[in-house]
Amino acid sequence: MHTIAVISQKGGAGKTTLAVHLATAAAAEHVSLLLDTDPQATASQWSHWRGGGDPEVVDCGAPSLLAGKLAKSRELGAEVVLIDTPPHADAMARQAAKLADLILIPCRPRAFDLAAIEATGELVRSSGKPAFVVFNAGPPHAPLVYRDAAEVISNTFQLPIAPVVLSERAAFHHATASGRSAPELAAGSKAANEIAALWAWTRTQLHLSTRIPARSAV
Ligand SMILES: Nc1ncnc2c1ncn2[C@@H]1O[C@H](COP(=O)(O)OP(=O)(O)OP(=O)(O)O)[C@@H](O)[C@H]1O
Ligand SMILES: [Mg+2]
Repeated sequence: MHTIAVISQKGGAGKTTLAVHLATAAAAEHVSLLLDTDPQATASQWSHWRGGGDPEVVDCGAPSLLAGKLAKSRELGAEVVLIDTPPHADAMARQAAKLADLILIPCRPRAFDLAAIEATGELVRSSGKPAFVVFNAGPPHAPLVYRDAAEVISNTFQLPIAPVVLSERAAFHHATASGRSAPELAAGSKAANEIAALWAWTRTQLHLSTRIPARSAV
């Protein structure tokens, strides 16, 4: 089983957007599950709007429960587990980081967001797990914005950056607001392509091979 924690102490960075999209992409190939550890329950709300189905979203209310939820997921045959974490919640984020194989840190390529990544960077580094910043919701055609943001991250926070960016696109917003993913809402769209590229890269990080659709066992 491969576990990906999506962590950022900054609110609104795109954690849930990233988590539901990667869980949905993973579910097309593997038995996948999304653990919602955020009391705001946004991922669970998304699943409710979706009418359930894959990827299954399971609530996890306390850091002390997370290891047990992961053990149960493994027992039931989950192959890929995404953990969506809350903002401003050190204990849950630390526990998710500790139990994950890979950590993704969504971050808007904007000064305030970049400055706020320091707390997340410290938390993630102390876990010793592979972690990458994923730029999210920046302008689609602004290489200088990304160059400057990458410089801040590499020089100040020493975190590697994922080579795939999710741009600010209405499809992400509209899709999640209707319980779908961008590829489900608008196949072939730029948003769909970005998610496909991000999932392909993520899969490589986990040394996961592409598989034919699997049935959810959880
Ligand atoms: N790439 C994007 N393009 C357009 N809208 C986006 C994008 N990413 C996120 N959003 C929108 O920004 C808002 C915040 O995103 P999201 O809920 O994923 O952030 P979060 O980090 O999970 O927030 P919280 O810290 O409150 O849990 C949502 O309305 C979402 O639809
Ligand atoms: Mg969220």
